Amino acid sequence: MKRIAVLTSGGDSPGMNPAIRSVTRAGLHKGLEVLGIRNGYQGLIDDEVMPLDSHIVSGRIRDAGTFLQSSRCPEFVKESGQLRAMEVLKKHRIDGLIVIGGDGSLNGARALHRRGLSVIGLPGTIDNDLFGTDMGIGVDTALNTIISLVDMIRATAASHRRCFVVEVMGRGSGYLALMTTISTGSQVAVIPEYRVNYERIAQVLDRRFSSHHNNSVIIVAEGVCPGTVFMERLAELGKVRQEIRLTVLGHVQRGASPTHYDRLLASRMGEMAVLALTSGEKGSMTAAVNGKIQLRDFDEILDKHKGLPADSIRLARNIGIEFGDAVES
Ligand code: ADP
Ligand code: F6P
Repeated sequence: MKRIAVLTSGGDSPGMNPAIRSVTRAGLHKGLEVLGIRNGYQGLIDDEVMPLDSHIVSGRIRDAGTFLQSSRCPEFVKESGQLRAMEVLKKHRIDGLIVIGGDGSLNGARALHRRGLSVIGLPGTIDNDLFGTDMGIGVDTALNTIISLVDMIRATAASHRRCFVVEVMGRGSGYLALMTTISTGSQVAVIPEYRVNYERIAQVLDRRFSSHHNNSVIIVAEGVCPGTVFMERLAELGKVRQEIRLTVLGHVQRGASPTHYDRLLASRMGEMAVLALTSGEKGSMTAAVNGKIQLRDFDEILDKHKGLPADSIRLARNIGIEFGDAVES
């Protein structure tokens, strides 16, 4: 292993920059040449390759996003795209690749591994939907961003006795929605893992409206439906007396400077990825399991569904959060 490369792919997450920095610094420390591929798999196909050194990554630990930039690349899902990527990797004599991204990106990483390349993936997505790791890089920062924004909404909700619906990210996962419902003291989580019960939500709002706590907050995961659709369905019941307002948080959820947790997680996973490649590891993801960073084979973790943590579901139930009904399997 003489020359390695790193790329970021899919939706950016705060912590990607610290991860690139760690890969670069650890790679140089091990005597490797380190290259950066710009713009994800699209940049790989387009041969957008640049050398990385200690100076280029200096100061990046504070920045959200990814200075290498990222993309979604339909061409890479096809065989022709992957063959072109392998040609570019060969041309630059790249012996090992580190891919930082979500589920789709790591499927792409496995596709290259199956074509004979040594590839290590880092879970980089705010959704926390990757099986096999307790946390993904960027999740903690996104949670902290969401709770500070919802705390601000509480002030106006209380001033007007209103109910606020807050739509948060989470393409197929209610992780962000459930966790922030718990940590903001909100009343309802609308999450894809559980079936929404509109009748019960109306009862919760009515009870609150008649009490001293006459405002409420409902956190809706975008993976269930847009917040607008949720509001229409709730209104169709005709049982909600108070005014309801919607706030869609959108991409600000990805934009904060990485928290300590994410800087450390990204740094540890970046280092682990380099050590893995230099010790002959060929196709796996770095995973945080009970506070330790481990390697898990792509085949062991991809194509598996990550459910919500059972202890958080129990907690939500026991402190009176309304989050719907279990979906029968
Ligand atoms: P994320 O990595 O955040 O989940 P996407 O699902 O959009 O984001 O995937 C990012 C990119 O990874 C896609 O645009 C595509 O280039 C690549 N990719 C996704 N799925 C596959 C797959 N099954 N095989 C090969 N490449 C894939
Ligand atoms: O995969 C992470 C994520 O943040 C999802 O929660 C969201 O649905 C998606 O990315 C949106 O990404 P974009 O708008 O960049 O396509």
